[in-house]
Amino acid sequence: MAVDLSVDLAGIKLANPIIIAAGNHTENGTIMAEVAQYGPAAAVTKTIVAQPVPDILPCYAQVNGGFLNTVLSTIHTAERWWQEELPKARENNDMTIIVNLAGRWAEEAAELAEQAEKAGADMIEVPTICPHMNEILEAMFPGTELPQPGFTDCTPWAKTFKAVKDTVDIPVIAKFSGGFLHNVQDWTEAAVEAGADGITCCDSLGPGLSINIETGEPWLGGPRGVGGLTGPAIKPIVLRMVMEVAAITDIPIVGTGGITSWKDAIEYFMAGATAIGMATVGHLRGMNAYRKILSGIENYLDDHGYSSLEDIRGLTLKRIEDRKVNNRMAISELIVPVVTERCNGCKLCERVCVFDAIEIVDKFAVIDGEKCYGCGLCVNVCGRDGAILQPYYEHA
Ligand SMILES: Cc1cc2nc3c(=O)[nH]c(=O)nc-3n(C[C@H](O)[C@H](O)[C@H](O)COP(=O)(O)O)c2cc1C
Repeated sequence: MAVDLSVDLAGIKLANPIIIAAGNHTENGTIMAEVAQYGPAAAVTKTIVAQPVPDILPCYAQVNGGFLNTVLSTIHTAERWWQEELPKARENNDMTIIVNLAGRWAEEAAELAEQAEKAGADMIEVPTICPHMNEILEAMFPGTELPQPGFTDCTPWAKTFKAVKDTVDIPVIAKFSGGFLHNVQDWTEAAVEAGADGITCCDSLGPGLSINIETGEPWLGGPRGVGGLTGPAIKPIVLRMVMEVAAITDIPIVGTGGITSWKDAIEYFMAGATAIGMATVGHLRGMNAYRKILSGIENYLDDHGYSSLEDIRGLTLKRIEDRKVNNRMAISELIVPVVTERCNGCKLCERVCVFDAIEIVDKFAVIDGEKCYGCGLCVNVCGRDGAILQPYYEHA
């Protein structure tokens, strides 16, 4: 069966759900045109500001399960983006271009948005806050009274968002900070109220720290060497945030945070995302990662008999609703996993079973139902899909 990968993002039809999130693969028009060759339907520019600042160096550090960075906005002027970089980004491709922009105050953001629209942007994304931003700006401009955005008060950002929204006719989407992990509902309500056509969830979490143990120096530059955390480490948190946003609003969500495989992407759709954004995976594994994830999504849908992403979007919200309806919110009765003929006796499950309930007999995992606690870890760590199954209740 042919799979339809297209999605509707705020009234714009994307040929597939892959969006290159603001990052180094969108730092200028040349690299955007290059990344377009790897299959994404859209790309978001690095944040365009009226007065770009140089990057604080070193600006990148790989950490276990993720990535830290100290970068703020694009280093190019807005004028250069409108005149040179956006036209270059469009060369030899039909990728949708989303301009991510930030103003120091609402009027400045609105002015940039007006210019972006005139320069041919298809959509605008208005970011909120990076966790490392404030202390770096303080260090760069000591004593200046720059308005510093915060994580808890949505009002100043909502004012800026509204000013942008009132200025342009193209769709405007909000980009949440990972720092909203405890109040994502408040921000969702503020974004919807301000007229957001979509929500990208999320930017980095943190800030985080990584130390060079030969010198004791933080790996990153800046006052304390802290940076925004992205990549797989943030995925479970952002996935939960996406699910919470989707439970509140029907506006499209761009699930962004720690996607490194097609399986991560599928989880985001099931949590309620319409499209997915990626930055770190491309930085650490190269542009081909985007193409692989796209084909993995297509194969998954095909193998499971789904005709489009709409078939799975928000499925997890429905499953959670089922738990409520069927009074299965706090079940503590044991459900012993089932080992299938796909098991090759690799011993991974035996090693992780802290209840000593698994033994490999003749290259096959045997679960002792008397000892099994039903924790589910063996199912989860098994590297062979379908070798150990978690029996669930029937789904309606
Ligand atoms: C090197 C780097 C630069 C980034 N620059 C920006 C930026 O300019 N504006 C922005 O809104 N987000 C920026 N981000 C955040 C990403 O767009 C994305 O939201 C975040 O990295 C989470 O996705 P990931 O885990 O796939 O990287 C940047 C991320 C990285 C890693």
